[in-house]
Amino acid sequence: MAASLPAAPELREGGCEVRRWDACNAYKARLTRLRKASARQAETRLQQLRGDKIDMNNGALVNLIDVHKTYRTGEMEVPAVRGVSLEIKRGEFVALMGASGSGKSTLMNILGCLDRPTSGHYVLDGADVSGLDRDRLADIRNRKIGFVFQNFNLLPRTSARENVELPLIYSVQHLTNAQLREKADRVLASVGLGGREDHHPSQLSGGQQQRVAIGRALINEPEVVLADEPTGNLDSRTSIEIMGIFQQLNERGITIIMVTHEQDIAAYAQRNVMMRDGVILDDHLVSQHSDAASQLQQRHPSTL
Ligand SMILES: Nc1ncnc2c1ncn2[C@@H]1O[C@H](COP(=O)(O)OP(=O)(O)OP(=O)(O)O)[C@@H](O)[C@H]1O
Ligand SMILES: [Mg+2]
Repeated sequence: MAASLPAAPELREGGCEVRRWDACNAYKARLTRLRKASARQAETRLQQLRGDKIDMNNGALVNLIDVHKTYRTGEMEVPAVRGVSLEIKRGEFVALMGASGSGKSTLMNILGCLDRPTSGHYVLDGADVSGLDRDRLADIRNRKIGFVFQNFNLLPRTSARENVELPLIYSVQHLTNAQLREKADRVLASVGLGGREDHHPSQLSGGQQQRVAIGRALINEPEVVLADEPTGNLDSRTSIEIMGIFQQLNERGITIIMVTHEQDIAAYAQRNVMMRDGVILDDHLVSQHSDAASQLQQRHPSTL
């Protein structure tokens, strides 16, 4: 609040008791008004942060408000994120970029409810999740967020189908084995892996493993997919294929937030956010983003 409390009136000087009494009353009344105003302001802010979508949320799926994250290891403090405010609307495809150590993964961990900010607020889909305990964060993760990582993070001695089924086992939906299988196979087919359901990760190429990981991210029908360098271990053609899948998902209305070091991968997103030293340096819309499907068609028209 910009207004500050009034200075106390000078009571030692200035004449008679009446004037002193008036000055005192005026001072008290002004104090009361200011206190009421700041209480009203605090209440409004609290309502907004509790998920009152009317004022602040403004259709945003993700809203970070002055988020800080400081890691403490022994005596050392590392301020990894230093005051990030970021709004991402439902259905956006955002690439998060920046040099190594700039805070991208730290921010993604907060966005994915894997970690909490040291200070500031994270409003996800209208609800302030910054202060929630581990169990409630895990619940929100399961319901709203899908993750894709650079190293795929698949269970090695487990089939593609079982890897994809995994998040469903922890979800509140209680499906029969037949329903689980049917749903997993449908998702695998949607990422181009029909017929590979029984293959283990070692029997799949890097691109196919990443497709399994995308299937696993999609199985709970998330609001948002968070991908941390999803093409970091893939060759250029396979990277375009993965971008093609992301663009299809995005066309279906799924919000995608993707960390990448590569400018040509960021060009598949609609918006690029650049970080440096824990702050956002630049945030712009991509005027003409790359279209993975047409690029793939140009490269190998016969395979499509
Ligand atoms: N668990 C942790 N404990 C202490 N410091 C950490 C921890 N995780 C990250 N950091 C530090 O926080 C800063 C930001 O790290 P972060 O992993 O978010 O960067 P990044 O942008 O993802 O980098 P990269 O591109 O290399 O993945 C770095 O200085 C890093 O050393
Ligand atoms: Mg990182």
